[in-house]
Amino acid sequence: MQPTTTREREQLAQASDTLAQLERQFNGEPRRAERDESRAVVTARGLSRTYGKGGAKVHALRDVDIDITQGRLTAIMGPSGSGKSTLMHILAGLDQPTGGRVGIDGVEITRLKEKKLTQLRRDKIGFIFQSFNLLATLTADENIVLPLSLARRRADEAWRRTVIEAVGLTDRLTHRPAELSGGQQQRVAVARALITRPAVLFADEPTGNLDSRTGGEVLDLLRRSVDEFGQTVIMVTHDAGAASIADRVVFLKDGRIVLDQDRMSRDEIYDTIKNLETAPAADERSAR
Ligand SMILES: Nc1ncnc2c1ncn2[C@@H]1O[C@H](COP(=O)(O)OP(=O)(O)O)[C@@H](O)[C@H]1O
Ligand SMILES: [Mg+2]
Repeated sequence: MQPTTTREREQLAQASDTLAQLERQFNGEPRRAERDESRAVVTARGLSRTYGKGGAKVHALRDVDIDITQGRLTAIMGPSGSGKSTLMHILAGLDQPTGGRVGIDGVEITRLKEKKLTQLRRDKIGFIFQSFNLLATLTADENIVLPLSLARRRADEAWRRTVIEAVGLTDRLTHRPAELSGGQQQRVAVARALITRPAVLFADEPTGNLDSRTGGEVLDLLRRSVDEFGQTVIMVTHDAGAASIADRVVFLKDGRIVLDQDRMSRDEIYDTIKNLETAPAADERSAR
């Protein structure tokens, strides 16, 4: 694929000095070999994020500490407005905290300049969005290898085949997004996120636009990426069923972590959410 827009050209330019690093990364064994459950891929300390000023000030995050260990699927849950998106964007280097710090794969990202941060995102982070975000003019196959094309990298053929088989798109590779169902489009997005073998894969409501059956297929895929490839996944969801596939469920309320628990059933998660939604907010309590 030839770069056409200024943005694509910038991305290509930024890619050039990390090619050697990518070379090593893609010539390595699948991540399964280096899986280490005790190792934190993402660390965050004392994160706070406020919006606005004075009386209109909103505390989206308040003093959040979190470590995400390698090769696990972590779900982030909480009522609307509890800070889930803010936390995910900050952990992924898409937004800066007002206070605190974030490390990804040993690099403190809260100190990086924009150019280095862009490189780090491209090299170490995969994204899956609620709305798929595929490029309409590219085929499924071209969408899947886009992160490599932008970095002027050829795909490792064996890994590319593994990923395409895992997502079940072998016979859909020449289709464009408009010719694919929602579930198939999201599976393309999952493959695109896996193709670079990111240190961490962030998924923001990945089943939000899908019916329960195709949503379930996408969740199975995320689960398998953890179990078979040792992928680290952080998924924001407000669906108890989706969160029940996680190894760990972190609940936010009013910008704080209020519960952080391993392996919860759908019913336990559902009850926890109901309790959080009816409990008074921290602000209301402290005002009494
Ligand atoms: N750009 C913004 N400007 C002002 N307030 C914001 C902005 N983004 C989020 N907020 C506020 O921060 C809080 C947390 O938002 P968010 O992280 O989007 O929550 P969630 O994803 O859990 O619904 C909410 O009160 C929200 O209104
Ligand atoms: Mg949100």
